[in-house]
Amino acid sequence: MKRLQGKTALISGAANGMGAAEARIFADEGAKVIVADVDDTGAKSVVQDIKDAGGTAMAVHLDVSDAASWEKAIDEGQKAFGNINVLVNNAGIAFLKPVQDTSEEEWDKIFAINAKGVFLGTRAVLENMKAAGVGAIVNISSIYGLVGAPSAAAYQATKGAVRLLTKSTASDYAPFNIRVNSIHPGVVRTAMTEDILADPDGQKEILGTTIMERPAEPEEVAWAVLFLASDEASYMTGSEMVVDGGYTAR
Ligand SMILES: NC(=O)c1ccc[n+]([C@@H]2O[C@H](COP(=O)([O-])OP(=O)(O)OC[C@H]3O[C@@H](n4cnc5c(N)ncnc54)[C@H](O)[C@@H]3O)[C@@H](O)[C@H]2O)c1
Repeated sequence: MKRLQGKTALISGAANGMGAAEARIFADEGAKVIVADVDDTGAKSVVQDIKDAGGTAMAVHLDVSDAASWEKAIDEGQKAFGNINVLVNNAGIAFLKPVQDTSEEEWDKIFAINAKGVFLGTRAVLENMKAAGVGAIVNISSIYGLVGAPSAAAYQATKGAVRLLTKSTASDYAPFNIRVNSIHPGVVRTAMTEDILADPDGQKEILGTTIMERPAEPEEVAWAVLFLASDEASYMTGSEMVVDGGYTAR
């Protein structure tokens, strides 16, 4: 039996990068996947890939920072694929600046997407998960939600917020058999990091203490997300899974 057989999963930010890798792997493992993103063209292309490979997926437009957009996306997704059993709060943006170079507008924007987006998505699926008596939520934080790094003030603050929102939600909803965990990727080769990884000095700097001395491919994180989303992780909630090539090990 496939690892997500019979489940419906919504993945935010699934048009590109790690979210797209999660969508493909989830579909291979039997899930009906709702590919949700502001990038409609990218989302449709991921859905086409999944269908070409024999899987089941649909694209929905979602701006994670907007409560009404969540309601609409979930409604559309559930009408087509049934109750959402798995939510991956993956959508995110990044910029690298220290506090003094960060404007209030930049701070508010990154919080609206990376932190409020996780709150809104979680809030939007909980009622149906409670009614069903089962659910798994995986929040994509970062190593930058665990330890400090130069010039990433606002991004780190959002990812730290996601780490503890995860534990708080896990505490409140365990009685309803809803598990909530966070993933903390290290440096992953996606659009978010492509500029810095293209420059050898930039790559060395961002990899920092990564023992494996290389970035991850998106799939290497997606496999960990799959595990937490699946029933194999039935005794895991409120946990933080680090997938960082050893960045935080020393
Ligand atoms: N790349 C890394 O090194 C790295 C490391 C740790 C954590 N992360 C986190 O992983 C997640 C995925 O990042 P990625 O590297 O795949 O980036 P990416 O830029 O490749 O993909 C991010 C996706 O989020 C979507 N998105 C942006 N704003 C949105 C919004 N308001 N509503 C809906 N979708 C929106 C984008 O359109 C895009 O498809 C993010 O939360 C990121 O912070 C990335």
